[in-house]
Amino acid sequence: MSECKRRRMIAGNWKMYKSQAETRAFFEAFLPLVADVTDLDIVVAPPYTSLGVAVDLADGTNVGVSAQNLDWRKEGAFTGEVSAVMLKDAGCQYVIIGHSERRQYFGETDSGVAQKTKAALDAGLTPIVCVGELLQDREQGRTEAVLSQQFIGGPGSLTADEFSRILIAYEPVWAIGTGKVATPEIAAAAHRFLRQCVAEQYSAEHAAAVRILYGGSVKPENIQGLRAQEDLDGALVGGASLDAKSFADIVKCK
Ligand code: 13P
Repeated sequence: MSECKRRRMIAGNWKMYKSQAETRAFFEAFLPLVADVTDLDIVVAPPYTSLGVAVDLADGTNVGVSAQNLDWRKEGAFTGEVSAVMLKDAGCQYVIIGHSERRQYFGETDSGVAQKTKAALDAGLTPIVCVGELLQDREQGRTEAVLSQQFIGGPGSLTADEFSRILIAYEPVWAIGTGKVATPEIAAAAHRFLRQCVAEQYSAEHAAAVRILYGGSVKPENIQGLRAQEDLDGALVGGASLDAKSFADIVKCK
């Protein structure tokens, strides 16, 4: 699969952090630090309330803006929800779907992830679909079973054409916000397994083309080892993406 050149992506998931003023300060510091980066996609995912500020400041730059969630319906009496069409209208290019925090705290299911992913694609957004096992899954030797189940029920239910327009993020839940990054070898093995799932469900071409990001305690100090793994196409960064300098250091790691 090494003959296929996949463009890397470094995406920052801000979760429920940063006011509009903090978003502005971040972009003012971050954009000059990464202005000369052309060899990968850079994405920032602020909370809904800061999307407008982020879209304005990122306009015409090499940084794309992502939302962190969406409702799969177009519009309607669904208090508190935001649709894919609305995110597109607000200037987003990407949306994170099925993050483990949404699965854990908001009851998201694999079929909900599939619905949201289709809605995002229909609206012209690029979905970044998250999968990942719990610590107990790994300890019980169930990592591949869980990844396979999340894959089949979620992104694996798309058509082949739809599937070619998404990214996958492998985020082992035990590594998220814990400071306990997966070793490059553990991450690479999971990425290889996911590619195998893609090959079985779609084709070898799809498996070679799909971009798979790693997420979970990625920091400037550990990005180098992860970057060296050919099955990893970049990172989905939480905590370290909140600081302009540390996120830029991750983006610029060679
Ligand atoms: P941390 O980088 O803070 O562990 O978060 C990872 C994550 O959940 C990104 O979506």
